Amino acid sequence: MLIDLRSDTVTRPSAAMRAAMAAAPVGDDVYGEDPTTTALEERVAALLGHEAALFTPTGSMANQLGVRLLVPPGQELLCDDDAHIVRAELGAAAAVSGITTRTWPAVDGRVDVDRIARLMRPAAGPYFVSTAAVVVENTHNFGGGTVQPVEDISRLREITAGAGVLMHLDGARLWNASAASGVPLSDYAGMFDTVSVAFSKGLGAPVGSVLAASTDRIVEARVWRKRLGGGMRQVGILAAACLYALDHNLDRLAEDHARARRLADLVATAAPGSVNPSRVQTNIVVFEVPDAARVVAGCREQSVLIGALDARHARAVTHLDVDDDGIELAGKVLGEVLARG
Ligand SMILES: Cc1ncc(COP(=O)(O)O)c(C=O)c1O
Repeated sequence: MLIDLRSDTVTRPSAAMRAAMAAAPVGDDVYGEDPTTTALEERVAALLGHEAALFTPTGSMANQLGVRLLVPPGQELLCDDDAHIVRAELGAAAAVSGITTRTWPAVDGRVDVDRIARLMRPAAGPYFVSTAAVVVENTHNFGGGTVQPVEDISRLREITAGAGVLMHLDGARLWNASAASGVPLSDYAGMFDTVSVAFSKGLGAPVGSVLAASTDRIVEARVWRKRLGGGMRQVGILAAACLYALDHNLDRLAEDHARARRLADLVATAAPGSVNPSRVQTNIVVFEVPDAARVVAGCREQSVLIGALDARHARAVTHLDVDDDGIELAGKVLGEVLARG
């Protein structure tokens, strides 16, 4: 049996989720007639404390629609240099929307409010690129599942609001941030102008993200989604999986977090120095390794799949398809492989 810890995106829909998908009432969502998709959008907007929301096929599309709404072509967004939006969306902000990006150096992906304040150049006139928006990722994926402190976001919001700079939240794993910190989803999301959340990660749905914002912005996002080829027809069949995930998979995220911590504890005992368990905040564990490709290959030989973040860092992500026994086994294998050096 393979224990797949490469990402929380590898989950497969359960039989009950598939049954919910099969039973979903559907209509043509490009005509605004899909009741299940509309129900999901309304539910997520309310959960996040925004007026409206829009279903998208991917988190990348939700992020890209969000920044497109906030940043005019030729202006810039700021994000950290490990953000998914700048590292893993294949230059979409520039290639699709004419947006330039400047970054601050990420330490565990944490928001660095003072540095952002220094980087911002709103309304920079005809000589420099003007800063239109800041992107925050919460939890931070490549940073190791880092939860952004709500006080930092609130201070950032004050500074950006004073400067007329807008804010987008990449909340692909906002569910995990809220579960770990106890901060309600809407407290985080309400501080942002646009927010993306994903269902195809820790929540276990096969497909789907949602962008939340004001009603006016969502009207515009709907136009851009269609323009980019993301207008879908009887998509309630997918939205039903997301509704199912909210009902059944949200309250269990703390289990994934406890398992990530357990994995880190096991590996720290077998291979001291490779991971600091106290830094594991959610469902992502980053290991410092001498040679990530070798560690990944060594684990694969023993049926444990993890990923390489770069040459010196490997990543394991817990999720609803890995149980306690799987974690014990993965911890043993990883510990042995890392102890070998
Ligand atoms: C933080 C973060 N944002 C956005 C995305 C993009 O999601 P998708 O793969 O659905 O485009 C991911 C994907 O892993 C992610 O980790």
